[in-house]
Amino acid sequence: MPFARREGLKVRIRHADIERRVRAVARQITRDFKGQRVHLIGVLKGACFFLADLAREIDLETSIDFIAVASYGKTKESSGQVRMLKDLDNNVAGLNVILVEDILDTGLTANYLLRVLRQRRPKTLKLAALLDKPSRRLKPVEGNYIGFTIPNEFVVGYGLDYAERYRNLKDVCILHPTPR
Ligand code: IMP
Repeated sequence: MPFARREGLKVRIRHADIERRVRAVARQITRDFKGQRVHLIGVLKGACFFLADLAREIDLETSIDFIAVASYGKTKESSGQVRMLKDLDNNVAGLNVILVEDILDTGLTANYLLRVLRQRRPKTLKLAALLDKPSRRLKPVEGNYIGFTIPNEFVVGYGLDYAERYRNLKDVCILHPTPR
């Protein structure tokens, strides 16, 4: 029996559907920035698989960087505080920056990072996220490139974790039976 099944996880989005959707999002970015360079900034660690797949499907000059913020840790609830753990390696002034998140949940992380990045004067600043849980928002944040909108379920896989587990699953799965 596969690991995810043994763990009692339920598939929410199959890998094949993720691949198809990531290609579509990349095509949209390619169209929007035709003839230009884009600079993808992945939010560690959850966005690393999405960023890796997205970057390879974008048919433009593309550079990447990573930023890390304090995350949920071992619990499923946000502390409401965002703290930078690792800053960017490179300056983003004048670049077409796309912040790449695994999921937009309360919106606190994206809201904080968009504010920080805007102060650094990029040419344009967009937000991409594999998943969006709009029903959980505490801060008004809207993604420009969204993979899938999902209901209020805690999901793991394709970069998303629960206490650092399950990031390597190819599918996005619902972690259950643990009520929130
Ligand atoms: P925020 O609440 O929008 O600031 O999201 C912060 C971070 O919480 C996300 O980037 C994810 O790493 C994590 N997160 C939110 N919802 C989930 C989930 O359903 N599964 C796993 N991680 C999540």
